[in-house]
Amino acid sequence: MAIRHYLQFSDLTAGEYAWLFERAAIIKRKFKAYEKYHPLADRTLAMIFEKASTRTRVSFEAGMYQMGGSVVHLTTGDSQLGRAEPIEDSAKVIGRMVDLVMIRTFGQDKIERFAAHSRVPVINGLTNEFHPCQILADIFTFIEQRGSIAGKVVAWVGDGNNMANTWLQAADLLGFKVHLSTPRGYEVDQDVAGVRSRDSYKVFKDPMDACRGADLVTTDVWTSMGYEAENEERRKAFADWCVDEDMMRVAKPDALFMHCLPAHRGEEVAAEVIDGPQSVVWDEAENRMHVQKALMEYLLLGKVTG
Ligand code: CP
Ligand code: NVA
Repeated sequence: MAIRHYLQFSDLTAGEYAWLFERAAIIKRKFKAYEKYHPLADRTLAMIFEKASTRTRVSFEAGMYQMGGSVVHLTTGDSQLGRAEPIEDSAKVIGRMVDLVMIRTFGQDKIERFAAHSRVPVINGLTNEFHPCQILADIFTFIEQRGSIAGKVVAWVGDGNNMANTWLQAADLLGFKVHLSTPRGYEVDQDVAGVRSRDSYKVFKDPMDACRGADLVTTDVWTSMGYEAENEERRKAFADWCVDEDMMRVAKPDALFMHCLPAHRGEEVAAEVIDGPQSVVWDEAENRMHVQKALMEYLLLGKVTG
């Protein structure tokens, strides 16, 4: 089997996503039933973190162990990556010793360069531009709660960041619509998102209008990792982009609320919303592990059954 990387959401087809969502449900059931499932016995995942993480690290690490494999954890500070060893050299070396690599880094170009020199699959664990594993978990969570996402409306309130870019790619591929509302100066860069169809998103000035009639309302931090120097400026610009109960009220009555976490109550989301009855953020976080187990299984073994 030719190696496949997962560097952005558009790297897989709609058919492959249908498969992954089915596998994730099966793998989740096994986990809940304490059923031993070790398809990745003797396989090793290297995880490279150039930015902080809680969910991504725990979900990949626990997930790999649960599937019988093992992990190696590297950071910029404790490896030669932080001492300017060329990324191409690191990719060649690491790929000779492990079966799979997950990277969380800054520019997408870095992960692309790593993948180009890796002889094992590389997974994007978040870059400045994309967060495909998170959207995989978010859509799986939506499907669990509400069925197919095709034809539905997802309201994105906030920064035109890595999460927003990835939602746009997913809408394009899986046939739903994103209603985008971002403050001026923080819009999604269409070229970065690489969206093919103009029908898959609509831009709204007022976040209330973006939320009107939505099946899912979602947001993210005002300041993503790597942009901390802009924190004060962003706090002012984003003041009206807090998902509150008024925004949830204009969405569909059964609309869900999601947030990739970590969250800041009182900034991008009101406590009443994230801790309220429409919020599915804890399922969403847990599902990172189940979908990534399905993804790792698929990249290493293809379409296995059982
Ligand atoms: N959502 C997410 O990726 O969380 P972490 O930054 O904790 O990994
Ligand atoms: N957009 C956020 C997501 C964190 C999981 C960031 O990049 O920091």
